[in-house]
Amino acid sequence: MSFLAALRALAQGLDGRVQNGQNPRQMMIARTLQELHAAREALGPVGFVPTMGALHAGHLTLVATAKAAGRPVAASIFVNPTQFGPKEDFARYPRDEKGDLEKLEAAGCALVWLPGVDAMYPPNSATTITIGGPALQWEGASRPGHFSGVATVVAKLFGQIRPEAAYFGEKDWQQVQVVSRMVEDLALPVRVVPVPIVREADGLALSSRNRYLSEPERKAAPALYAALTHTAQEIAAGKEVAAALHRARQSLAQAGMVPDYVALVHAQTLEPLASFAAPARLIAAAKLGQVRLLDNVPVG
Ligand code: PAJ
Repeated sequence: MSFLAALRALAQGLDGRVQNGQNPRQMMIARTLQELHAAREALGPVGFVPTMGALHAGHLTLVATAKAAGRPVAASIFVNPTQFGPKEDFARYPRDEKGDLEKLEAAGCALVWLPGVDAMYPPNSATTITIGGPALQWEGASRPGHFSGVATVVAKLFGQIRPEAAYFGEKDWQQVQVVSRMVEDLALPVRVVPVPIVREADGLALSSRNRYLSEPERKAAPALYAALTHTAQEIAAGKEVAAALHRARQSLAQAGMVPDYVALVHAQTLEPLASFAAPARLIAAAKLGQVRLLDNVPVG
């Protein structure tokens, strides 16, 4: 057995699920840094899909996009405590490890990294990443500390996985810009690849939190995407921006939502635009019952 084959065998034996022969693609599952390092040695260059689990077709599209680039795909599942505010849903964030592993295996993932909180935040860890620029407004303003938590955990995951490319959904448009900013500012050796939003047939962007919508709320939820597409058309057609955004907020309120923000922004810096100029993105967040919906569309 070659050294590489031995490493591969070692890495594949890291989890009972892999050993018991139920896994024809032999997806590796690492739960400790030691297991992760062995698995990484065996794989060579990888594409990386970081997630918090409760996986749906949006996440799996990231895996498929990464796979299509021709490298093995590593995914991570870690519900990152530091990106949740004290009043947010960390404790009740949906968790379904068994279902997630089955989906990742079926999607052809080569490695799943399932760190515990101790692996990500050992007691002596003392470094936090703070990002200005694209992190300051919108989600950054509504959820203080959120992007610092995201940036810190993503930087750690990049260091652990050492991917060539990392795939992020445009569903979280601001997150993609924040991570891209960090990668450039810190000269991290990874390419950030944005992946278009996966939607339900009625336009609602897939989200792990959609399962918390009641039936009437689920029926009302597509109003967010409808308002965004309509407003983007109005703005591209030359309508006055402030008035168009005001009408969008009104239509969200009519659908039973409490809009947090609806904004026309520069697509990369996230600075608000008083008038339309490319590259622009129309972004919004609105509360529907207990669920905070997030969406965005291109303009022009
Ligand atoms: P999570 O919300 O699990 O999302 C993981 C990735 O899936 C993100 O890049 C997100 O934008 C993408 N995604 C979610 N819904 C999508 C959809 N409908 N279409 C396309 N992509 C979608 O985002 C996070 O986790 C965390 O902040 C993380 C980056 C893992 C750091 O903890």
